[in-house]
Amino acid sequence: MRNLVSQQVRYSSHAPVSHTLATHNYPSALIAQEAGVDIILVGDSLAMVSLGMADTSEVTLDEMVVHARAVARAAARSFTIGDLPMGSYEISPKQALASAIRMVKEGRMQAVKLEGGQEMAETIHKITSSGIPVCGHVGLTPQRQHALGGFKVQGNTVGKALSLLRDAQAVQDAGAFCIVLECVPQDIAEVVTQALKVPTIGIGAGNKTSGQVLVQIDMLGTRPPDAFMPKFVKKYGDEWTSSLNGIKQYKEEVTSRAYPAPEHNYKSDPKVTEALKAHIREFMEPNQAES
Ligand code: KIV
Repeated sequence: MRNLVSQQVRYSSHAPVSHTLATHNYPSALIAQEAGVDIILVGDSLAMVSLGMADTSEVTLDEMVVHARAVARAAARSFTIGDLPMGSYEISPKQALASAIRMVKEGRMQAVKLEGGQEMAETIHKITSSGIPVCGHVGLTPQRQHALGGFKVQGNTVGKALSLLRDAQAVQDAGAFCIVLECVPQDIAEVVTQALKVPTIGIGAGNKTSGQVLVQIDMLGTRPPDAFMPKFVKKYGDEWTSSLNGIKQYKEEVTSRAYPAPEHNYKSDPKVTEALKAHIREFMEPNQAES
């Protein structure tokens, strides 16, 4: 899947559907790669689901780069995309290119993702014409949640659907090799996908996009059962329960001294143990020797 950028698969019901996971650390990326996921995205969802921040606006480019580099170490066989966080690309195309270069040079990612539509066209062109592939992101763009009035479905009126299409086309024409469509009604996502030459990666956008993405921590059920979860997330695992049960069993076995068991212990030479005891009997005060 490393040559993904050149594939540019247009949506058709017969086209292969690509699968992406947003992953934030080395062990998670190892599992994603072992499962054969096409694309590993180091998303800025990192902020909320892995770093416990209130929203994605808090995470910095420095933090993203550290996590990207960890993921890259595990993901040698997958195509990797690093998200540019809020504040690292909006000021000017030059600022965006500098951030994209850091994501490639230091984060060891193969492409970058940034949020926004027509207003980002010049920026996307600057980055792609410098040789760094860009994945666009339109529809619900969480970095702009306050301007959008929260995490809401996008493209659900004629005016908003047309604006979504124009944004996606502008991002494509600026040189993006694929576009994330987030929180868009399925029929609208399908029409937009069919109107584009580049693949779309849907999240909360139905099953007619060219591919899908989910955040790994969400889809594996790693977060507490009462954590907010968008409607589109399907849980394919229950890591919370299995981890909780594992930690509870560890506690019980430590308390009862069932752990460590003989197979976890290092053996000593009985002569060494006896010599140590003899030394204590001979040279230490009785109260010390007893303790
Ligand atoms: O930050 C992220 O993980 C993302 C995906 C969910 C598309 O942007």
